[in-house]
Amino acid sequence: MNKLQLAEPGTADEMLVRKLDLNALPGHIAIIMDGNGRWARSHGQTRVEGHRAGVASVRDTIEASAQLGLEVLTLYAFSVENWKRPRYEVWTLMNLLKEFLLKELEGLVKNDIRLKILGRWRELDPSVVSLIERAESETADCGGLQLNIAINYSGRAEIVDACRQIVADWAQGKGTDIDEETLGRYLYTAGQPDPDLLIRTSGEMRVSNFLLWQISYTEIFVTETLWPDFRRGQLFEAILEYQSRVRRFGGLSEDAERDLQDNQSG
Ligand code: IPE
Ligand code: IPE
Ligand code: MG
Repeated sequence: MNKLQLAEPGTADEMLVRKLDLNALPGHIAIIMDGNGRWARSHGQTRVEGHRAGVASVRDTIEASAQLGLEVLTLYAFSVENWKRPRYEVWTLMNLLKEFLLKELEGLVKNDIRLKILGRWRELDPSVVSLIERAESETADCGGLQLNIAINYSGRAEIVDACRQIVADWAQGKGTDIDEETLGRYLYTAGQPDPDLLIRTSGEMRVSNFLLWQISYTEIFVTETLWPDFRRGQLFEAILEYQSRVRRFGGLSEDAERDLQDNQSG
């Protein structure tokens, strides 16, 4: 990968890129894109203008992730709980999604990005469903970045859907033992690695029903930056912080392991 593609020479972004270890990147980054409403308020604009402003952040994040060579990027765009919002706001979000699918499809194919929508998207308006079907099928053979966008998504609903499908398969005589590996194969993210890094913008310290099963050992990075202000620079900062973390997965850190060996041999 060419570091030059990632940032303009002489910029703060380039300084960050220089510090990144490109051989130790997270394979899967998931992002809770939050703070559009607060961004709009602080700019004297309406909430929907905040959502519109967030599209540029989505575009830059996808582009940088593809250039970095990440395996998977998952963006949380609309939760099952977001239906509680005013009708006009929901309508605008659905329209932004349609616009995205229409305008970006060509670019996704050109950049070898495979799109998958996570969530109960078949329940959405037929006009959205047909655009999703088209975008997924036209990018199905792309072998670069796997881009997941979570829409009408709920982590609990995902686990319920997986269980229902397992029961349906049983009824057809295709039963298997249920273990963690089996359940993983029935999730929307089947076949994909779990997120290594979860980023949440706008400072909220919660997971809001996102990828509940998949984030069991994910590193979490919360930034105060509001989503419409998020660009690749913030992505690089999150990755840098991730690269300073020690992941233990319930075991011992390398330091603790060494102490143990020193004590045993000494
Ligand atoms: C995130 O921004 C976008 C969606 C949830 C769709 P918000 O709309 O939640 O923004 P805040 O949290 O009100 O600032
Ligand atoms: C999470 O943000 C959902 C998305 C980013 C799509 P919310 O703004 O809906 O989450 P809460 O309500 O603050 O937990
Ligand atoms: Mg919010």
